[in-house]
Amino acid sequence: MSCILITGGNGFIGREISRIAVEDGHRVRSIARRGRPAIDEPWVAEVDWNAADVFEPYDWREQLDGCDAVIHTIATIRDSPEQGVTLERVNGDAAIIAGLEAERANASAFVFLSASGTPPFVSDRYQRAKRRAERALLDLDLQASVLRPGPIYGVGTNQGHFPRPVNRALQLVDDHEWLARRFGDARPISVTHVARVALKAALTPNTPDLLSVPDISSDTDLHPSEHER
Ligand SMILES: NC(=O)c1ccc[n+]([C@@H]2O[C@H](COP(=O)([O-])OP(=O)(O)OC[C@H]3O[C@@H](n4cnc5c(N)ncnc54)[C@H](OP(=O)(O)O)[C@@H]3O)[C@@H](O)[C@H]2O)c1
Repeated sequence: MSCILITGGNGFIGREISRIAVEDGHRVRSIARRGRPAIDEPWVAEVDWNAADVFEPYDWREQLDGCDAVIHTIATIRDSPEQGVTLERVNGDAAIIAGLEAERANASAFVFLSASGTPPFVSDRYQRAKRRAERALLDLDLQASVLRPGPIYGVGTNQGHFPRPVNRALQLVDDHEWLARRFGDARPISVTHVARVALKAALTPNTPDLLSVPDISSDTDLHPSEHER
């Protein structure tokens, strides 16, 4: 059993990582501004939910005590400068702050949910901030792994951010290997698959620094029932 801190554990991908980690028997802590999500599923009660802003490390640093790994899923696609939310801060600085805190707490591994590209209709500053954070994290004195998935579709009760028809279309593409491969770095991947790859990266020594779309999608050494939810 390991202890894993998930930053953004109440978000789309963070909650899937939390669910799987709980079901695999790990101790799971989350930090996110809104704390516990409004989900009525048994695994939710097993997570230690903490309402904290990543930019205020004094408020959440103690959650790293005794934790083996950190999985960082905090991001935004929208600027709201009046609330201190900019693409640079939330997609770049937040990951660096979390990484420095993890290094200082002697965590063994840090996994950064980055992205293969910029989402549609979002400024390129999104990706520039991600790449800046990736470079900084790979210099830390812990095992840092960067995941760069393309679009991620929801499964079961965790439907994610895309409208339902788009989510369904992405799933259909992923169901047909010959078609999915043609999408290259924009190949859709299920939230469950990405979550399992992130968890495996956090818990496996000597995981590569960078896991790109082909690395993530071709990792079949995972739980077989991920499409069953
Ligand atoms: N969704 C996709 O299709 C996709 C594709 C490729 C890559 N990714 C990457 O995967 C990662 C996760 O994406 P997602 O879709 O799961 O995002 P999401 O659903 O928007 O989740 C973002 C999380 O960040 C938390 N957060 C935001 N600002 C925070 C702050 N200042 N302090 C603490 N927590 C904060 C949010 O919780 P609160 O609001 O409660 O703070 C939420 O839990 C991101 O890095 C994204 O770039 C996503």
